[in-house]
Amino acid sequence: MSELGEKYGPWAVIAGGSEGVGACFARRLAGAGIHLLLVARKPGPLEELAAGIRDASGVQVRTLALDLTADGALEQVEKAAADLEVGLLIYNAGSMDRMLEFLDDSREGVLHTISRNVVGPAVLTHHFGRGMRERGRGGILLVSSLAALAGCSRTACYAATKAFDQILAESLWYELRPHGVDVLCLMMGTTHTPAMERLGMAMDDPDNPAMDADVVASEGLENLSNGPTWFAGESNRASAAAIAGLSRREATEMLSAVGDAVLGDA
Ligand SMILES: NC(=O)c1ccc[n+]([C@@H]2O[C@H](COP(=O)([O-])OP(=O)(O)OC[C@H]3O[C@@H](n4cnc5c(N)ncnc54)[C@H](OP(=O)(O)O)[C@@H]3O)[C@@H](O)[C@H]2O)c1
Repeated sequence: MSELGEKYGPWAVIAGGSEGVGACFARRLAGAGIHLLLVARKPGPLEELAAGIRDASGVQVRTLALDLTADGALEQVEKAAADLEVGLLIYNAGSMDRMLEFLDDSREGVLHTISRNVVGPAVLTHHFGRGMRERGRGGILLVSSLAALAGCSRTACYAATKAFDQILAESLWYELRPHGVDVLCLMMGTTHTPAMERLGMAMDDPDNPAMDADVVASEGLENLSNGPTWFAGESNRASAAAIAGLSRREATEMLSAVGDAVLGDA
C-alpha cells in the first residue's frame, strides 16, 4: 500500500472530479490504490474518466452525475458513500464561471455561487469529517483561489466564497490536527482547465502563465499534511507574498485590475 493510501484510503470522494484538476486528483489517487467516488454534472466526461481509471489502475470507481447546488444533492453524495470508509474528501468544484459586477449578476447567480462554494464544502466536510475524526485518520482538501486574498471587482461573490473556503480549511486544520486528520486549503492561480478555456481566459500571458492541472494536483496531494494552506506554483507563492505586503486598499486595487485587464477596461 502506498503512503497516500495508508493515510487517506481506502476511499476518496472528489466533488468536482471529472475534468481539469479534479480529474488529475482522481488519476493520482487511483495510482496510489485509493478507490474513488467522483461527482460532477456532465455524465460524459465523468464516465469516460471513470472507465479509463478502472482500466489503468484496477481501483473501484463510483460516479454520481449531479449538480452539487441542486436540492437534495449533498444528501445524495452522502447516500452514495454510505457504505464506504471515506478517508479523503476533496472539494474541487467551484470555478469562476462569469465576470461581471456584483449588482449586474442575477440573484440566482449569486446564490448558485454561494451554494456551490460555501454550502457544498461546509456540509460535505461536516459529514465526512466526523467519520475521519472518529477513526483518527484522514484528509480534507478544499480548493481555493488567489482571488480569496483581497477584494476583486467583477468576481466579488466568487472571491468571497473562496475566502470562506480558506478560513474554513485553516480552522479545521487546527481543530482536527489532534485527531490525526490533515486539512489543507490548496490555493490556485490561473490553471489550464476546460472550465477556464470555456470562460476564454488567456492561458499564455507571460506575466501570468497558466499552471498545468496535473502539477497543481500533485502539489496539493504532496502537501496534504503540510497545511493549513499551500499555494500551488512558485509564481503564485511569489504573488501571494507580494499581496500580503500590501495595504488592503492596494491589494484590492491590484486584484481588481486583473478583471479590468481581462474585460479590456485597463
Ligand atoms: N482553473 C483556474 O484557473 C483556477 C484558478 C483559481 C482557482 N481555481 C479553483 O480550482 C477549482 C477547479 O476549477 P476548474 O477550473 O477545474 O473548473 P470547475 O468548473 O470548478 O470544474 C471542476 C470540476 O467540477 C465539476 N463541477 C463544476 N461545477 C459543478 C457543480 N455545480 N456540481 C457538480 N460538479 C461541478 C466539473 O464538472 P461539470 O462541469 O461536468 O460539473 C469538473 O469536474 C475551483 O474550485 C476553482 O475555484 C481554478
